[in-house]
Amino acid sequence: MTNLSQGSTSDQAGAPIRILGISGSLRRASFNTGLLRAARDIAPAGVELKIYDIREIPFYDGDVEAEGDPASVVALKSEIQSADAVIFATPEYNCGTSGVLKNAIDWASRDRSEGSLMGKPAAIIGAGGRAGTARAHMQIHETLAETGALVMVKPGLQVQAFSPPQFDAEGNLIDEKTRELLAKHVEALVTWTRLIARPMEYVRYACEMDTAAAVT
Ligand SMILES: Cc1cc2nc3c(=O)[nH]c(=O)nc-3n(C[C@H](O)[C@H](O)[C@H](O)COP(=O)(O)O)c2cc1C
Repeated sequence: MTNLSQGSTSDQAGAPIRILGISGSLRRASFNTGLLRAARDIAPAGVELKIYDIREIPFYDGDVEAEGDPASVVALKSEIQSADAVIFATPEYNCGTSGVLKNAIDWASRDRSEGSLMGKPAAIIGAGGRAGTARAHMQIHETLAETGALVMVKPGLQVQAFSPPQFDAEGNLIDEKTRELLAKHVEALVTWTRLIARPMEYVRYACEMDTAAAVT
């Protein structure tokens, strides 16, 4: 059995793939959280998608970090450690990702141990206005590149949420075509995750180098 990620029991022969879903919107009826719920519902057999709520994560503050990670940050890092892959669902706010999502990634990036974002398969999806969050995607992609996450760029999933309406008043995905695209996207991420299977030699090297060069 080959572990796909440190701390995970998944393997390439068909054991469950664990995907962590993180929504960049805190809104109760968020379309982006709705996308993740739909992804969880349609995930193929053998794929577990868990949604982690980032609302408790405080603003990144080096002084707070120096005193020890807050519980919500410990939980975030631990969820990432136990996941084989991470899906980030980003809204688009003023042509960028949301502050809360960037902040959560900043905290997560401070973990440079082997199960962290370094070398971890990831995907970005999003639902928003006319640009379908394309500009937020670009921004978060740059940020994730710096964390060492291995982002699956194609296929992309950028949902134009409003016209025609893709979500109901509770933020549930109601458009069948988008649901099909989302299902294909999750399947592609599972394939990506199995193919990458975390190159541990690289991850160890990159973690060591990054820690050595890290700003405090
Ligand atoms: C402060 C703010 C800025 C926004 N800027 C953009 C934008 O640049 N592009 C866009 O497509 N939508 C923009 N929107 C609309 C959001 O994409 C839309 O509200 C979306 O539903 C938010 O995601 P959520 O449903 O997951 O909360 C903005 C919304 C807010 C509140």
